[in-house]
Amino acid sequence: MSAAFTVAIDGPAAAGKGTISKAVAAHFGFAHLDTGLLYRAVGAQVLLGRDAVEVAHTLRAEDIDADVLRTSAVAQAASKVAVIPQVRAALVDFQRSFAARAGGAVLDGRDIGTVICPEAAAKLFVTATAEVRAARRYAELAAKGAADSLDQVLADVRARDARDADRVEAPMRAAQDAVVIDTSGMSIDAAVAASIQAILSKR
Ligand code: DC
Repeated sequence: MSAAFTVAIDGPAAAGKGTISKAVAAHFGFAHLDTGLLYRAVGAQVLLGRDAVEVAHTLRAEDIDADVLRTSAVAQAASKVAVIPQVRAALVDFQRSFAARAGGAVLDGRDIGTVICPEAAAKLFVTATAEVRAARRYAELAAKGAADSLDQVLADVRARDARDADRVEAPMRAAQDAVVIDTSGMSIDAAVAASIQAILSKR
C-alpha cells in the first residue's frame, strides 16, 4: 500500500466503529485516531463551564483521556458542541495532518469520508439498528457500574443520531463511495473480516 493510505470509517454511535477501527489499524499496521474523542474532550470542558470554541482552538493531547471521556453525559455534550461550525473548523487541521502521516492512518468519526478526508483511499460506513446499538452500549455501561436504564440509553442513542445526522455543518452520512457495513446481526470477527476485505479491495 502507498505511504499515506487513509482509511475513513464513519457511522453512528455504538455501531462497532471503534472496535473495527482498532482491529483494522492493527491488521495493516496503521495509526488510529478516534475523532469522537476530540469532540468529547471539548464537550467535557464545556460541562466544566468553558467556552467550546476557545477549548477547540487550544485543545492539548493531555485533555484527551479516553477513560474519563466515555460517559453518557460527555457523549451528549460532544454531540452538542459538534454542531458549532467554529468548533469543527478548529479541529480540521489536526485530523488532516494525522490522516496524511506516512505509513497509513485509520480515522473514525461521522464526517471523515465526506469532509475531513474526501480523498481517502478506502471508506466504510459502519452502522446497526438503534435497538442493537443501544443494547451494546447498555451492556458496556452496566459492566462499568453505570446506572443508566436500557430505555434511557436508547433515548440517548436516538437523540445523538438525530443531532449528528440533522446538523447543517458536516452531518453524519455515508460518503457516496463508502462501503456500508451493517453490523446488526454480525459477530465482531465477521464485521472486522468484512471491513478488512473492503479495504483490501481498494488497494
Ligand atoms: O464517536 P463518538 O460517539 O465518541 O462521538 C461523540 C460525538 O462527537 C458524536 O455524537 C458527534 C461528534 N463527532 C462528530 O461530530 N464528528 C466526528 N468526526 C466524530 C464525532
